Amino acid sequence: MKIPYFKLERYFAEYEFTAPYLLCSSDCESFSVQELMEMEPGAADELNNLRLGYTESLGSPGLRKEISSLYDGIEPDQILVHTGAEEAIFIFMNVVLEKGDHVIVHWPCYQSLFEIANSIGCEITPWVTSEGDHWELDMDFLKENLRENTKAVVINCPHNPTGYILPENKSSEISRLSQEHGFIVFSDEVYRFLEYEEKDRSPSFCDVNDNAISLGVMSKSFGLAGLRIGWIATKNKMIYEQMACFKDYTTICSSAPSEFLATLGLRHKDQLIRRNKKIIADNLEVLDRFFEKHQDIFNWHKPKAGPIAFPSLADNGDAEAFCDRLVKKAGILLMPGVKYDLAYNKNFRIGFGRQNLPEAVDKLELFLENQM
Ligand SMILES: Cc1ncc(COP(=O)(O)O)c(C=O)c1O
Repeated sequence: MKIPYFKLERYFAEYEFTAPYLLCSSDCESFSVQELMEMEPGAADELNNLRLGYTESLGSPGLRKEISSLYDGIEPDQILVHTGAEEAIFIFMNVVLEKGDHVIVHWPCYQSLFEIANSIGCEITPWVTSEGDHWELDMDFLKENLRENTKAVVINCPHNPTGYILPENKSSEISRLSQEHGFIVFSDEVYRFLEYEEKDRSPSFCDVNDNAISLGVMSKSFGLAGLRIGWIATKNKMIYEQMACFKDYTTICSSAPSEFLATLGLRHKDQLIRRNKKIIADNLEVLDRFFEKHQDIFNWHKPKAGPIAFPSLADNGDAEAFCDRLVKKAGILLMPGVKYDLAYNKNFRIGFGRQNLPEAVDKLELFLENQM
């Protein structure tokens, strides 16, 4: 398979470990091993005694049990553990899609959500959302663009990079259409549980749609990206089996320490999520003040979930040039919207899941004072 560069990951590769202020990270502040150990007496001894053999290819039973408890009606044997969410996206697309299939993708999107399908030879219809419409998904667009050969509809809510949440009436309409037209819903839910208001959380697609695939990961809501533990949850037995077989050619099974730490983390999921939501809420207060003060420079639509948003330059300016100047002169990394799609050239992604955001925003203030 030939596949174009992942623009956003390449941009990160250039700056992530050199820029002092990462102001566009998509995850939440990570926890240390010690912090996890302190959550449970005896955990450190257990980790020390862990045997480092191969693990079960589907994921350890204990881990799958903890993951299944994140859903309403999903059993442990309906969970398939992967190495991050990324592996699951790659495998899903490889087993379900064929050249010539039509796929509709929530847009803008994390590049692998369309690029892998594109590289397989699928026809992609971007389900475009815009800042002017508050990133709302237009259901009429979906209905008008469904075709005989539409094999999958890819949704990502809460959304990267806008923080948009799909309202429940739209998610049930998508499920209804999937039954009527026979397409599969692939629902990237890696930011689930980071809704600022609990009442805004729609049901997971795998709970309400027997054919849908829901994607989850330890990286975002739980602040444990370095574990590289992701999963799919689905009642669709056929796709589950096919994905499990494909995985024999990618990673076979997960790392044993990662499975142990992910299981431990999920036993204390409320604590992890509470801490991350507090960081996000505190940081959003800082950002609200910052954007209020700089309305002449930026457009700011406060998101409804997650640690990222997609503001824009108010004067139709070139956000890529702005981000380039910012990282080179002040060491502050924002993600230019063009790394998602050239059409978003005024936008940039800002991340606020990290504890040092207030310091980074102070530096940004200084940069604006000196540059603008
Ligand atoms: C929407 C979305 N899906 C999937 C992924 C991949 O997650 P991971 O890096 O944990 O595999 C990311 C990572 O940024 C993401 O933002």
